[in-house]
Amino acid sequence: MSAQRTSYHGQWSSRWIFIMAATGSAVGLGNIWKFPYMAGENGGGAFVLVYLACIAIIGLPVMIGEILIGRRGRQSPINTMRALVADGAHWDGWRFVGWLGVLAGFIILSFYSVVAGWALSYVGEAASGAFVGVESATITALFNDLKGDPWRLLLWHTLFMALTIGVVARGVQSGLEQAVRYLMPALFLLLVVLTGYAMQSSGFDEGLAFLLRPDFGALSANGILAAMGQAFFTLSLGMGAIMVYGSYLPADASIPRTAATIAVMDTTVALLAGIAIFPLVFTHGLSPSSGPGLIFETLPLAFGAMPGGVFFGTLFFLLLVFAAWTSAISLIEPMVAYLVENRDWGRIPAAVASGGAAWVVGLGSVVSLNVASGFDIFFGLTWFGFADYLTTNIMLPLGGLLIAIFAGWVMPRSAVIEEVGLTGLLFRVWYGLVRYVTPVGVGIVFLHAIGLIGG
Ligand code: PFF
Ligand code: NA
Repeated sequence: MSAQRTSYHGQWSSRWIFIMAATGSAVGLGNIWKFPYMAGENGGGAFVLVYLACIAIIGLPVMIGEILIGRRGRQSPINTMRALVADGAHWDGWRFVGWLGVLAGFIILSFYSVVAGWALSYVGEAASGAFVGVESATITALFNDLKGDPWRLLLWHTLFMALTIGVVARGVQSGLEQAVRYLMPALFLLLVVLTGYAMQSSGFDEGLAFLLRPDFGALSANGILAAMGQAFFTLSLGMGAIMVYGSYLPADASIPRTAATIAVMDTTVALLAGIAIFPLVFTHGLSPSSGPGLIFETLPLAFGAMPGGVFFGTLFFLLLVFAAWTSAISLIEPMVAYLVENRDWGRIPAAVASGGAAWVVGLGSVVSLNVASGFDIFFGLTWFGFADYLTTNIMLPLGGLLIAIFAGWVMPRSAVIEEVGLTGLLFRVWYGLVRYVTPVGVGIVFLHAIGLIGG
């Protein structure tokens, strides 16, 4: 019975379109902005290795689970968790997972939009030739000026949020599908160009070694938690975004193949970004651990020095904005789908209210970069840092853990088998990963990070 549900928000026209949309959600600031600076702050290679392991043995299995829950339920995450419970599981409390995700997406969007605003402002900087032939000190000053000016940050944050609301209000399918098809490959090609440029720089070997040679002494318990959190963040997992998109997935599409394609593309983009950035860091004597400004302080150096740099730089930041946009849309889609289903709102008011509220919360991140930068919210974190830490390191892994338990232990095995379409050994491997490895793995990393188990 339940396999026959259809979604009244519409359906993707094919599996390939779903892959495009889900890749649009996955590939974003997480790959190009966050992955490099997180790797830099956590000592490089060992972080990268733990991150890759988390993608393979936790992220991919959870993604399969999250998509299949979505397709089985065919509604917003909150209602899906409710509906599937009615299918044979026992506890109404599962809709909490949907709520946790709605809240996480909302908080992430609030700071994501601010960072996407940096990228927006860099489109103009690149186009005006501000990077051409300048020293790294000039680039760093340029970034610090932006960060220090709440009004400029506010302007770009507002513009980006308006763009996001605009697409979400019209429905996820229209427009997005076409755009993702051409712009994502273009971003990928530009990263290849940047990597090619990085290969010729004098810091290439050092940069590559930093990124790929593991030094486990440099990785703290919190670094391991950050690597795991980043795996969830980058794949858009643990908060219902992929679940909502899965609820629009045609019934005959193979979920494991789809999930693997998305994970491979996302990982490739993150690694390419790292390979493009760290050689520049070492060539110019910058610090790999300089934090959230890293790509804004390094990539302009490459664009400033390469032939055609004004063109490539403008295009790059434009595509980065676009990648952030397709991710931001998926961050509020769970909330919007819920308001439309349960409160009978139209898509337009639902999108404006959700995006508007995230915009307000984002003001906290705007001021925490300048006037309120000394304001300690939580253990030395500003509001911006806290919002990121709370969502990436706690809410997403917790959501992912609960999703794994739901798919692995709560849903009837027959329903799971019917949706996942895996048989024999492959099924047993995947089922074992979501039933045991994910819950135990996430649990251990949590306990390790709060110091309850040693190492
Ligand atoms: N995966 C996105 C990125 O890497 O930029 C961020 C993201 C989007 C996280 C959607 C979570 C989400 F639900
Ligand atoms: Na990503």
